[in-house]
Amino acid sequence: MNRKFQQDNLVGQSNSFLNVLDQVSQIAPLDKPVLIIGERGTGKELIAARLHFLSQRWDQQYLTLNCASLNENLLESELFGHEAGAFTGASKRHEGRFERAHGGTLFLDELANTPGLVQEKLLRVIEYGEFERVGGSRSIKTDVRLICATNEDLPALAELGEFRADLLDRLAFDVITLPPMRERREDILLLAEHFAINMARELGFELFSGFSEKAKRSLLDYHWPGNVRELKNVVERSVYRTNNAYVPVHEIQLDPFESPYRPTQRIKATRLTHSTTPEQPAAAAAPPASAPSQTADKFDFSQVQDFKTLSQDFEINLIKQALAASQYNQKKTAELLNLTYHQLRGYMKKYQLLESQQA
Ligand SMILES: Nc1ncnc2c1ncn2[C@@H]1O[C@H](COP(=O)(O)OP(=O)(O)O)[C@@H](O)[C@H]1O
Ligand SMILES: [Mg+2]
Repeated sequence: MNRKFQQDNLVGQSNSFLNVLDQVSQIAPLDKPVLIIGERGTGKELIAARLHFLSQRWDQQYLTLNCASLNENLLESELFGHEAGAFTGASKRHEGRFERAHGGTLFLDELANTPGLVQEKLLRVIEYGEFERVGGSRSIKTDVRLICATNEDLPALAELGEFRADLLDRLAFDVITLPPMRERREDILLLAEHFAINMARELGFELFSGFSEKAKRSLLDYHWPGNVRELKNVVERSVYRTNNAYVPVHEIQLDPFESPYRPTQRIKATRLTHSTTPEQPAAAAAPPASAPSQTADKFDFSQVQDFKTLSQDFEINLIKQALAASQYNQKKTAELLNLTYHQLRGYMKKYQLLESQQA
């Protein structure tokens, strides 16, 4: 068994994180599928491993597969195996993950974009516990506990017809949603210290002298879009750059690309203007009344009573106009706003526009 999975090093004391750990302990002993949802870097892989090691299957196989890293054919053959001669290059029979994980747990990461054919086979294996190897006709029985993870909004994808709703129902016996770093700020320094100590040890330091006040501020003030993974990288980089066991870490470089020599980004500039200027504003829709004008020097700042409300009104207005301009087709609306579909859904959820959009 892989030692990496056995060390339990989940750090965190925030309520939202402790609630997740409680949920994990509760559901781990059941033989049911579990779906783990969370932004990138929130710890989905660690949680999946914990589910396995707290289950009765802890001493059996724990196999993982990243579904986004393979094309349809390879994914099918990695999951379900193939017979000799099933396709060009298949000289020997190959046992897939479902066969090898028999009695244990299979963790399927980044499940959202799994092709339809594989989704169909997954449905069958969950429902009946059987499948066929690629190029084979014999049904093979397997007893595997399935854990899946994604950072996408699967119900939204199912609504769009891009993910099978019946498969989602079966995978989601229960769903564990991991809080992003910005919702568990109490854990930032705790995690930072944990990663710093490990890094100091790796560098052969006798001790770790902590963070300066300024360094702590930078860590606490940042919004961590890459979550725990980003925090880990930032902290490790800061420790190794300080490179002195007896001096507290003072400099926190959040962006390793920051440099006076960094090539300028034309793409970014066009995107930024694009995202605030829908190409076809709805003829019938009202102009964004309270929206600040694009040129800051003409804007009357005495209007700004409440910065947040004003910006939110602007966003709501822009989304409503784009919806109208695209006949309430959300895919088109997202394109107009240069957002991904999921980002748009996120905004619509935030501003409660989902129910009222047709009104
Ligand atoms: N609660 C935690 N305590 C300690 N390390 C964590 C925690 N959550 C995540 N990590 C670390 O952060 C990194 C990203 O975690 P991972 O499980 O790969 O995230 P995801 O799969 O959600 O992208 C890994 O190095 C992992 O060890
Ligand atoms: Mg991951």
